[in-house]
Amino acid sequence: MLTLLAVNVILSIGGSVVILNIIPKFRDMFVKAHLSGVDLNKINKPEIPEAAGVISSCIFLIVMFIFIPFPFSKHFFNKEWGFPHQEFVQFIAALLSICCMVLLGFADDVLNLKWRHKLLLPTVASLPLLMVYYTNFNSTTIIIPKPLRFLLGHDLDLSALYYVYMGMLAVFCTNAINIYAGVNGLEVGQSAVIAGSLILFNVIELNGDCWSNHLFSLYFMIPFFFTSLSLYQFNKYPARVFVGDTFCYFSGMTVAVVAILGHFSKTALLFFIPQIANFVFSLPQLFHLFPCPRHRLPRLNQKTGYLDPSVFQFKDKSLSTLGRLVLKTYQLLGLVKVEQAEKDGELFQSTNCTLINLALQLTGPKHEKNLAASLIILQVMCSGLAFIIRYPLASLFYDC
Ligand code: UD1
Ligand code: MG
Repeated sequence: MLTLLAVNVILSIGGSVVILNIIPKFRDMFVKAHLSGVDLNKINKPEIPEAAGVISSCIFLIVMFIFIPFPFSKHFFNKEWGFPHQEFVQFIAALLSICCMVLLGFADDVLNLKWRHKLLLPTVASLPLLMVYYTNFNSTTIIIPKPLRFLLGHDLDLSALYYVYMGMLAVFCTNAINIYAGVNGLEVGQSAVIAGSLILFNVIELNGDCWSNHLFSLYFMIPFFFTSLSLYQFNKYPARVFVGDTFCYFSGMTVAVVAILGHFSKTALLFFIPQIANFVFSLPQLFHLFPCPRHRLPRLNQKTGYLDPSVFQFKDKSLSTLGRLVLKTYQLLGLVKVEQAEKDGELFQSTNCTLINLALQLTGPKHEKNLAASLIILQVMCSGLAFIIRYPLASLFYDC
C-alpha cells in the first residue's frame, strides 16, 4: 500500500512541475483563442487567459492514466489471483465521469452556457459513475441518525432516491465551488483545502475496516491536490490566469466521484461548510426572488483600492411578497445591507447574497489579496470544525 501511495505522490509531484512549466507557455495561445476574461477588481482591468483549469485537469488525467497499471500490477504477474474487474471498472468509470466533466466545463467556458445547462452538465457527467455504483454496489440503505430513530427506525432503504441524491451531490459540488468565486485564488484555494482535508481524513481511515475505499480516494485526491497547488501559483493575487468553469466543474466532480465510490458522501459534505452556507444564502437570488446580476463578485473602490460588497438594485413593488419577506429577514439578521439607491426615489439597493460580500460587510473593506487569504483561512477553520463533527461529535448521532 505504501509503495503504491509513494508512486502516486511521485507522479503527482511530476504532474505539478509540468503544470508550473507549461501554463506560462499556453497563456498567449489562450488569449489568441479569445479564451480570456477581464480581471474586474483591478484598476487597469487587465485581460487575462481564462479556463487554465483545462491544463491542470488534463495533467491530472495524464497522471491518473499513467498510474492506472500500478494498483493492478500484482495481478498481471500472478495470474492465479484472478483480475479484479469490478475494481478496475470503478477506476475507469470514475475517470470517465471526471473526463466528461472537464469536457463539458470547457464547453461552458467557450460557449458561456445558461444557468439551466450548468445544472444539467454535472448530472450527465455523473451517469457513468451511477451506472458503476449500480452494478458494483447498489447499496441504497442509509443508517438513520440516533435522534431520528424513534421516527424512522435504524435504517432506511432509499432505493431510486439514493441515485437522485448521488446525482444531486455532483450538481451541488460542482456549482457550489463555481458560485463561491470572484476573488483571485479562491476557486483553486478552496478546492486545495477540501482536497487536503479529504486526504487527511482518508489517511486516518486507512486503519479502519473500509481502508480500500479510502485508498481508492487517495489515488485521486493526491494528484488533485498537487495539480491544484500548481494552478494556484498562477491564479493567486495578482492572477496571471483564471481557472474558468472548467476547473470548478472538474474539482467538484473529482470530490463527488471519490465521495460516492468511497461511500463517505456525508463526511465529504462536511468539508463544504462555507460552500453550503454560500449556496443557501444565495438561493433567493439563484431562484430570482431578488434580481441576480451576472456578476456578484465584490466591487473595487477606485479611491481606496479596497473591495466593497457589490449590490443589486430593485424597486420595492417589483418584489414578490415572499421576496420582500426573505429580504426583510436577511436584513434583520444583518446578512445584507439595504439602502435607498437614489434620494426620494423608488429605487433601493441591497448587497448581493454571497458569503464573500457578507465577509466584507462584517469585517469592513479589504484588499483583494487579504480577502482571498481570509476566505481560505475560513475554509481551513471550517475543515477543523468538520473533523470535530466527524470524530468526537459523531457518537451523538451514530453508533461508532
Ligand atoms: C459565478 C458567480 C458570479 C461571479 C463569478 C465570478 C453566481 C450565481 N455566479 O458566475 O456572481 O461574479 O462566478 O467568478 O454566484 N473574475 C474576476 N476575478 C476573479 C475571478 C473571476 O474578475 O478572481 C471575473 C472575470 O471577468 C472572469 C469571470 O469573472 O472572466 C468569470 O466568471 P464565470 O466563471 O464565467 O462566472 P460564473 O461561474 O457564471
Ligand atoms: Mg465560474
